Amino acid sequence: MKILVTGGTGYIGSHTVVELQQSGYEVVIIDNLSNSYASVVDNIEKISGIRPGFEKIDLTDIGKTANFFNRHNNIVGVIHFAALKAVGESVQEPLLYYRNNLNSLINLLEGMIKAGIPNIVFSSSCTVYGQPDELPVTEQAPIQKAWSPYAHTKQIAEEIIENTTKVENVKGILLRYFNPIGAHESVLIGELPIGVPNNLIPFITQTAIGKREVLSVFGEDYNTPDGTAIRDYIHVVDLAKAHVIAIDRMLNDKSKDKVEMFNLGTGNGFSVLEVINSFEKVTDVKLNYKIVDRRSGDIEKVWANTTYANRELGWKAEKGIDEMMLSAWNWEKALQKKTWP
Ligand code: NAD
Ligand code: UFG
Repeated sequence: MKILVTGGTGYIGSHTVVELQQSGYEVVIIDNLSNSYASVVDNIEKISGIRPGFEKIDLTDIGKTANFFNRHNNIVGVIHFAALKAVGESVQEPLLYYRNNLNSLINLLEGMIKAGIPNIVFSSSCTVYGQPDELPVTEQAPIQKAWSPYAHTKQIAEEIIENTTKVENVKGILLRYFNPIGAHESVLIGELPIGVPNNLIPFITQTAIGKREVLSVFGEDYNTPDGTAIRDYIHVVDLAKAHVIAIDRMLNDKSKDKVEMFNLGTGNGFSVLEVINSFEKVTDVKLNYKIVDRRSGDIEKVWANTTYANRELGWKAEKGIDEMMLSAWNWEKALQKKTWP
């Protein structure tokens, strides 16, 4: 059973490739390497003992994408991770984001339809909910006006898939991720932030290891118990496992609708200060941080209601905040020593 994983050399994609292989699936990756390295393929092989197929293709290239499907006629499902994901950059370069994230999806769907591949799992985000009125947020919460072009591409992509399933022989599962963190226990794959990280966890680990001087905590005047913003952090391997279940579900005809959506989080929210405390506790490293103004565009608090995903997928995130912090720290230490890419 061959699965196409787009963006498979990226952070979440690479962990998912390993889980798919360990569940018996054959994997072929498409990635243009705009935010990842070809050496990730070697490291996936080191973990699983199996080398996934890899093709360097930009999915916005309609000819090359169509050509890929002409050459692979035995794919049964697609997991579509490939996208640009930096919220701030998307504000500066909206057209780049709309072109990359939407043209690639359209080309992919056209290729799948022509090749008769009926299953797509899509990487969506809890950003589609904006600041939800009710917490924890369920899949039924209204989609709010997007806070960034990046978030807007996720909303439009969900609709493109939904509309396509109405008229084509295609089923979709939309996975709305909360905040993925941590790395594979082998420390052979993980997130490779390029330049100054935007996300909290890599900024914490880089500060702790001495690459950054001080972590800025964005805002302590939110309406939360300690005043700092709350998110639902989920370990990337827990997240990866849900993708295998989503693919199994489609292949075994267990989907209830042609398009389904699931929240992938732990169901627990942690504030920035709680995350820092957990990090300091499990690593025994004192973190240099200062409180600064809120970051523009940030929401105050969000965490998932995972009841539906837990019940329907028979899946539950297993790792807690301390374990996730240790995982992120082990990865940062491994990055210091790494000889690749
Ligand atoms: P990532 O950047 O590590 O991986 C994405 C991969 O897609 C990269 O390897 C990149 O080179 C590739 N890519 C981008 N555009 C491409 C194109 N046009 N053609 C071919 N390959 C292309 O990001 P990630 O964190 O692994 O995220 C994976 C998916 O999950 C993305 O769709 C992202 O928007 C979504 N997501 C991520 C988060 C998060 O916090 N990491 C949260 C919610 C949703
Ligand atoms: N934060 C800091 N200091 C930093 C970085 C972040 O205090 O240096 C705070 C933020 O203000 C926020 C929290 O830590 O309150 C988490 O911030 P991240 O940037 O790590 O994550 P976001 O929730 O802002 O966004 C992330 C991804 C998005 C994705 C979203 C939901 O960056 O792409 O999760 O999945 F859409």
